[in-house]
Amino acid sequence: MAFADGIADFRSDTVTRPTPEMIEAMANAPVGDDVYKDDPTVNALEEESAAAVGKEAALYVPTGTMGNQLAIQYHTNPGEEVLAHEGSHVRSIEGGAPQAYAGVGFRTVSGEGGRISPDDVDAAMAMAGFFPRISLMVWENTHNLSGGRVIPIEVMEETSARAREHGLAVHIDGARIFNAVAASGVPAERWAACGDTIQFCFSKGLGAPVGSIICGPADVIAEIRYLRKRMGGGMRQAGVIAAAARVALAGRERLVEDHVLARKLGEALAHRFPGGVDLDQIETNMVRVDFEALGMGWPEVKGRLEAAGVKANPPMGASWRLVTHRDVDAADVDRLVGALS
Ligand SMILES: Cc1ncc(COP(=O)(O)O)c(C=O)c1O
Repeated sequence: MAFADGIADFRSDTVTRPTPEMIEAMANAPVGDDVYKDDPTVNALEEESAAAVGKEAALYVPTGTMGNQLAIQYHTNPGEEVLAHEGSHVRSIEGGAPQAYAGVGFRTVSGEGGRISPDDVDAAMAMAGFFPRISLMVWENTHNLSGGRVIPIEVMEETSARAREHGLAVHIDGARIFNAVAASGVPAERWAACGDTIQFCFSKGLGAPVGSIICGPADVIAEIRYLRKRMGGGMRQAGVIAAAARVALAGRERLVEDHVLARKLGEALAHRFPGGVDLDQIETNMVRVDFEALGMGWPEVKGRLEAAGVKANPPMGASWRLVTHRDVDAADVDRLVGALS
């Protein structure tokens, strides 16, 4: 259902508001100083998160960006390169943090839907000793800029194995890994095993107001805890927000509802604007529309949506991304499609 002010917001799954259950959990959370590891709510969240992805330990961080960047700092040295997809969030949408904080560059590949193949890894490593050293490969699953596509587990397993043969560490930006789980039925542990570390976000489709978590072996997480302190990410009585994240994590199975709604939205738009949506590419909670197919410019689309109380981001080039989440429903989809008709 739309927000209390009637706005249906399709810009991102980050726009959700805390549920009454989350607010109650936050109000009643036992807390302590988490920098001293004294916050029982944060400790519980870390244990539950590590267990959810089959890793030994976990560390609560304020944002997905911080989780990814701490992993990059841990796994690399200045002057090295990270092997990643050209459209990966860590490279393109984290404010240049890898260059600024870890002092690393990128070697990029351009596989379909965020994929990296074993051959891509071999090719990247072919000039080892001459080109900048590659020490880390980063996956992003689901892949945001490809429209929430799921990188198949077989691809991740095969390519991660090849990367490890070359001595690379592997990190997974699993901001939406539970969307991949919901879409594929493949358990989270199996995806997480493709990386030494994995971060996932409570503040995306899971619906919590704040926070992400990085999971991995206990000794790695202990060192990343130190790096978090250095980055100013020690949050003291963070149980106040971790309480909502616990509720979000426990409710992760509802993500399939967002996927069903995204398909409904995609089908309605494909019906109204033939050729405008490739339905095969709707795998999770995102719909990518060929904006040209609408036959209207962004100012007109924006005006129509605003008049109907609907929010959407502008297109990036010809690609227009709409995102479903717990705070939009079938009536909001009808409202969006109606406004464009
Ligand atoms: C794939 C992916 N990784 C990382 C992030 C970063 O998360 P945050 O906004 O919490 O820093 C995002 C945010 O949208 C994302 O989509």
